[in-house]
Amino acid sequence: MLDLDKIQKMLEEVGAWSPANSEELEQLRIKYLSKKGEITELFNDFRNVRAEEKKAVGIKLNELKTMAQARINELKAQLETKQAEMTDHDFSRSAYPVELGTRHPLSIVRNEIIRIFENIGFTLAEGPEIEDDWHVFSSLNFPPEHPARDMQDTFFIESHPDIILRTHTSSVQSRTMEKTQPPIRIICPGRVYRNEAISYRAHCFFHQVEALYVDKNVSYKDLLQVLEYFSKEMFGSQTKIRLRPSYFPFTEPSAELDISCNICGGKGCPFCKNTGWVEILGCGMVDPNVLDNCGIDSKEYTGFALGMGIERITNLKYQVKDLRMFSENDVRFLREFQSAY
Ligand code: DAH
Repeated sequence: MLDLDKIQKMLEEVGAWSPANSEELEQLRIKYLSKKGEITELFNDFRNVRAEEKKAVGIKLNELKTMAQARINELKAQLETKQAEMTDHDFSRSAYPVELGTRHPLSIVRNEIIRIFENIGFTLAEGPEIEDDWHVFSSLNFPPEHPARDMQDTFFIESHPDIILRTHTSSVQSRTMEKTQPPIRIICPGRVYRNEAISYRAHCFFHQVEALYVDKNVSYKDLLQVLEYFSKEMFGSQTKIRLRPSYFPFTEPSAELDISCNICGGKGCPFCKNTGWVEILGCGMVDPNVLDNCGIDSKEYTGFALGMGIERITNLKYQVKDLRMFSENDVRFLREFQSAY
């Protein structure tokens, strides 16, 4: 017999529903609310309710149905959230294969420089970034009062003034010569540090490549040939070169190498400040003092050395206007070099 008590009991049952998953929830829906469900059956019994109870029972019955429906919806939402939390599938991820990264422009150019020198018999050499005064300065003939030794230019450790961050890759020259007798033909890429304020044209760290050739009878003519070969390989066969006298403590004579501006082809443009030439590296014949400092007999051997900034060469090839771009790792910038290799 349908009465208020029976409905109340069913209301309590509905309140206690706790399905573990959506299948169990569906079972409950079928058991109570489907065509033959228990709540639906109560509606069928309604016609047998005594006339004076019809109003109260009717109201309660509708309340039960609404409540059961609302409870189904509520449990459904709860189960869905739980399901989403439990799964480790990320539905927001692209279905396409993971994108390949790109080589950093400085790595592209460094590898290219290495390749060019390896083709003519140079081999890779490396040295530490944390160095000592001897390998960075003293062995390379820097006089004690040279401005590069100043704290303004070089990072020192206060408690150990002899320990510094190398300011150039020329330190790999002295390290190699100390432990190897000629013939020496090395190419040394690496990071260097200088105490500079960071701006679009200067950074406290950057990259260089050093080359050193020491043997019997190495001449200035050999240096010239290597410079011409390198410039044409790197910037194209139409590239012209010129040398300007310069000064470095570790080479004598010293020179700076200009190439014909690779942007205007030498006609003159804002990039080369209308001169038609751009500077790319420093070079010279290894000073005999340096050879002797490193245990190589300067009466028997001669050599040439050259050093260039990788950022500088990269700028010439790709016209990167702001040096900071190289270390910020903005993928929009890096992706521009996707096709370079
Ligand atoms: N070490 C120099 C610099 O950092 C570059 C350089 C100049 C290297 C002449 C050389 C060289 O080997 O011969 O500015």
